[in-house]
Amino acid sequence: MRLTSAFAAVSLLLSGADAALQQISNWGTNPGGLTLHAYIPNNVASRPAVILALHPCGGSGPGYAQSTRYGQLAEQYGFLVLFPSSVQDSNCWDVATTRTLTRNGGGHSQGLNTMVNWAKTTYNADASRVFVTGTSSGCMMTNVMMATYPDTFAAATCYSGVSAGCLAGSPGSSPGSANPTCANGNNIKSAEQWAAQARAMYPGYTGAYPRLMTYHGLSDTFVHWRNLGEQLKQWSAVQGVSFSRNVTNTPRAGYTQMIYGDGTKLIGITAQGVGHVVPAVEDQDLQWFGITGGDPPSSWEVWLAVVQFRFMISILSGK
Ligand SMILES: *[C@@H]1O[C@H](CO)[C@@H](O)[C@H](O)[C@H]1NC(C)=O
Repeated sequence: MRLTSAFAAVSLLLSGADAALQQISNWGTNPGGLTLHAYIPNNVASRPAVILALHPCGGSGPGYAQSTRYGQLAEQYGFLVLFPSSVQDSNCWDVATTRTLTRNGGGHSQGLNTMVNWAKTTYNADASRVFVTGTSSGCMMTNVMMATYPDTFAAATCYSGVSAGCLAGSPGSSPGSANPTCANGNNIKSAEQWAAQARAMYPGYTGAYPRLMTYHGLSDTFVHWRNLGEQLKQWSAVQGVSFSRNVTNTPRAGYTQMIYGDGTKLIGITAQGVGHVVPAVEDQDLQWFGITGGDPPSSWEVWLAVVQFRFMISILSGK
């Protein structure tokens, strides 16, 4: 009997990773024709956090679930991950039309926010711990979600994108359909102009905007890294923080964190020698969201660990 239940537990563990990604059909009104897969971990928390994870052009929700570690981490920490798919314009997110660049405008941004509402209702999710992340087109859309639904998301991270509204008015949002000015890094505006454009997507809103950590490869020739600078202008003006310092080789060798203000609201990260696309740094994302422990170890903790390590070595070596 015990053996059988042990086998059952093991097979549940083994099958869990696949079983947890489910296609959801009735999540709500769907003006942008989007589809949704949701990663529901076996040990989903009673009041789970939610991460909206947005794929790059040509991708899909299930593909992004496979190429990132958010699902595995959801098993560990009990949060939900929404992996939606765009199925139009080379599977890019619409970051160009007035519909999507307007709160409740009937475009992709509204569809994605409706998915978040579905997760909140269906899984009793914690509305104060809803986050958004994405890669390339998904990072462009992350910026759009921050501007159109700032009250939905507490924080965002993203990789290789552009500021909210950079493609406004472009005939499309894909490499084939878009006006190339933005991706080429030639849509340059002042911080105040970018901020005004973001605020205009939800006129009259006076609440907080999501905290942002945004990455870009310095060798990106597809979406020029000047777009990182434009994103930082936009959100530094919206957040009212200015550049304070660089931290090099963090979170990886060759990466530089550009810290704004006290580093709690806005961080830009350049990746030396990295093109398009920067691989997701999922553990760092979870820290930024506050899902995992916040502060890196203090020098006191590092000192203590060294002392304990030396003590252990001295016991093992008999000295
Ligand atoms: C900070 O890092 C960025 C990107 O790596 C670099 O362009 C900039 O000059 C640095 N700023 C300072 C003040 O060191």
